[in-house]
Amino acid sequence: MNQNLKIAVLGGDGTGPEVVAQAVKVLKAACQLEKIDVSFDDYSDICGERYLKTGTIITDEEVETLRGYSSILLGAIGHPDVTPGLLEKGILLRLRFEFDQYINLRPVKLFPGVETPLKDKTPDDIDFVVVRENTEDMYTGVGGFLKKGTPDEVATQTAIYTRKGCERCIRWAFEYTKKRNNPKGKMLTLVAKTNVLTYGHDLWWRTFQEIAKEYPDIKADYNNVDACCMWMVKNPEYYDVIVTTNMFGDIITDLAGILQGGMGVAAGGNINPEPGGTSMYEPMGGSAPKYTGKNVINPIATIAAAAMLLKQEGYEKAADRVMKSIMFVTANKMQSQAAGKMGFGTSEIGDLVCENL
Ligand code: IPM
Ligand code: MN
Repeated sequence: MNQNLKIAVLGGDGTGPEVVAQAVKVLKAACQLEKIDVSFDDYSDICGERYLKTGTIITDEEVETLRGYSSILLGAIGHPDVTPGLLEKGILLRLRFEFDQYINLRPVKLFPGVETPLKDKTPDDIDFVVVRENTEDMYTGVGGFLKKGTPDEVATQTAIYTRKGCERCIRWAFEYTKKRNNPKGKMLTLVAKTNVLTYGHDLWWRTFQEIAKEYPDIKADYNNVDACCMWMVKNPEYYDVIVTTNMFGDIITDLAGILQGGMGVAAGGNINPEPGGTSMYEPMGGSAPKYTGKNVINPIATIAAAAMLLKQEGYEKAADRVMKSIMFVTANKMQSQAAGKMGFGTSEIGDLVCENL
């Protein structure tokens, strides 16, 4: 055992700690089988409960400590007693921005045995990846109020797009499409709204066209975001890899998430691919307060996020083991992917994935 993988674990709020515990269990088991020396540091303090007690969301020291890791495993952020947005912006978005995690990688894969709301669609049809830009757009917090609270109130929320920001994301997406090497044909679809957002999305469009020239083997495709929503439901098999802006990526990946069986299975990686970068892996679902502490929440998304972590860290074989075991468990064991209807408790699902590694 000469490799060393050190992971920061941030359970967060609600059911976050429960699902993260299962992912840690699976990571330990997979790393043992692959002889990877793995260790975990706990940062469960960073959560809504602490904020309610002390008023601290996250300290600058905590951010700097987390910066020392290459990978963070995150459960969920969001507390029912805290004003919406405070923890999300204060913790989740702050970490994405501070660590310049400019890729939000969201694989959309229907695992065997999992129910999709799309009639007649199978795991062969629903298997694509969304690469969401993760540091710009309307998420940067640029904007403000004028005459707040008066009948003349004005509010602005500015969408920021930079050449550097879209270029690095688009280039990464082309590289990803090349490596994914889809046997059905390599295609990268830019999803934007060039017919209306004629400045910001024109920048994305021009940058996409330029970079596409460096990848003659990849079909460079374009969809307007509204049409993309329609196609995703009608013909999900059309897509290979999608690259899109932060806000549209947020929206279309919830749609994509339900096509792959719901928030219990949808995983995401906030990736800084630069040398020495800090990346963060999380289930797409929220903190699900009403299920907290009941051992009923689905940990599959978080376990899939852990597999993404392993892959991104270069442990492909360990990542494959986890993904194969997840698919064995969804195909042969679980009754449903919905909380409380899985046929097993949260921790039993974790055990099943470990047993089948
Ligand atoms: C997501 C979430 C976040 C986002 C929220 C919680 C800030 O919806 O990860 O998709 O909008 O990015
Ligand atoms: Mn979202």
